Amino acid sequence: MSLENEINRRRTFAIISHPDAGKTTLTEKLLYFGEVIRSTGTVKGKKSGKFAASDWMEIEKKRGISVTSSVMSFPYHDFHVNILDTPGHEDFSEDTYRTLTAVDSVVMIIDSTKGVEPQTIKLFKVCRLRGIPIFTFINKLDREGREPLELLAEIEEVLGIESYPMNWPIGMGKRFLGIYDRFNSQVVRFKGDEEEEIVPFDHIEQTDLVDHPVYNDTLGEIELLEEAGNEFTMERVQKGELTPVFFGSALANFGVQTFLDTFLQFAAPPKPRKTDQGLVAPEAETFSGYIFKIQANMNPAHRDRIAFLRVCSGKFERGMSVNVSRTNKTIKLNQTQAFMAKDRETVDEAYPGDIIGIYDPNIYQIGDTLIEGKGNFHFDELPQFPPELFKRVQAKNVMKSKQFRKGIEQLVQEGAIQLFKQDLTDSFILGAVGQLQFEVFEYRMKAEYNVDIEFVSLGERIPRWIKNEKFDKRFFDSRSMLVRDRYDQYAVLFENEFTYRYFLENQKDIELVDLLEENDYQAQ
Ligand code: G4P
Repeated sequence: MSLENEINRRRTFAIISHPDAGKTTLTEKLLYFGEVIRSTGTVKGKKSGKFAASDWMEIEKKRGISVTSSVMSFPYHDFHVNILDTPGHEDFSEDTYRTLTAVDSVVMIIDSTKGVEPQTIKLFKVCRLRGIPIFTFINKLDREGREPLELLAEIEEVLGIESYPMNWPIGMGKRFLGIYDRFNSQVVRFKGDEEEEIVPFDHIEQTDLVDHPVYNDTLGEIELLEEAGNEFTMERVQKGELTPVFFGSALANFGVQTFLDTFLQFAAPPKPRKTDQGLVAPEAETFSGYIFKIQANMNPAHRDRIAFLRVCSGKFERGMSVNVSRTNKTIKLNQTQAFMAKDRETVDEAYPGDIIGIYDPNIYQIGDTLIEGKGNFHFDELPQFPPELFKRVQAKNVMKSKQFRKGIEQLVQEGAIQLFKQDLTDSFILGAVGQLQFEVFEYRMKAEYNVDIEFVSLGERIPRWIKNEKFDKRFFDSRSMLVRDRYDQYAVLFENEFTYRYFLENQKDIELVDLLEENDYQAQ
């Protein structure tokens, strides 16, 4: 198959959602359709608290590290699907955000009983900034949820994206009859027990649906959508301005396959990517890619790490020599891993859109660009993401302050945690997207630099960067704390929404920036 064909069949995406919306359940169904697992209901048994012995777990065991939760690849019809996991729950971190830089489209799950939830909003904003196509799956239709029209209005208002329902639920909860599939001109009837019956529109007259009040209500809503709804254009979907919306139930495996088929058809294949020397097209002959995540093995006996590389152009072949553009050093890539390739552990070749795992003897950094041969350019630097949790940090033993500084400097460079200094006092404050980063930091300071540290929590804060070159420093206090980031840019850590609002109203001369709103603002 030609390079171009390989690129065009790649679909690399992430699923974003708030915890409990159904990401694991949906992923499992997708893996089932991709024949990665043979039956569903095996991946996660929350109730029993145990994992069932599924094919998935077997692969995980063989690999020895938890790669499956990071990237899942499988062929499906003519497509080659790569699903990248966005860690949520306790391990929500900058990695979660960074992963979104490595995908070409995103599936956003909304729980129909809850609507748009906070974590979804955060992740959505990152996708929005990058202009990637976003597809919405409204889940749990088998339960009494909120009115579909109300959910669409919420998506449009809260997220600021237009929506286009590709299908529409016929009832919900106990009255759930199925979905009205506008796109494929058919009704898919819900039969329970993972069963569906497809009725093309021109056969509906012959079914009992015609007289069903719930179906007739649905027709009324469809009419409303046809008249007042948004127009569907591929171009707006590709730019991330319009989200196609699908309804279904991941748990009941209802509407999932139709969703998958339609989504894959419309989702974007790999696109050209920005570098400091202009755009690099995926079809370019030279292999290139960048590292968006490094997973350290927490076992102290093995200090090796796996770097996750997104292939951006050309064909990757095992054993090829690449240049790491930051260090300008040549490295032969022998130890590489594919994810979920069924019957082999190492990857021999990969194409744009694919993710490969590279053995990292501590030579890579997040954001590193790797190019075949002697080429040298950088993919656009990964954006800086706003931390949410903050802790003051110091060495327990002041005699260790030299190692402490060295450790902080090096670990901060890796990008998992951000360093701030409180203005005037110069005390160190660490900021991270999730709690886990502090634990990893503490562990590594001890293991690698032999320094015991202590934290004083500042809790959750709202960080905003100051745009003004000059400003009056009198108005800051512990509730709106003035700090400098590691590039010496001023920022304010607000104690809560209230102090933030108060500040906005009273300090109109100080211009503040939210990193999730305005990504052009990059610390230099
Ligand atoms: P997450 O990965 O996004 O956190 O969500 P996950 O798939 O674990 O699903 C969260 C809960 O929602 C699970 O129930 C799951 O069974 C349920 N769920 C997912 N999709 C649907 C759906 O379409 N309909 C209904 N009714 N429920 C759904 P749980 O109670 O947390 O787990 P369990 O104890 O039932 O296993």
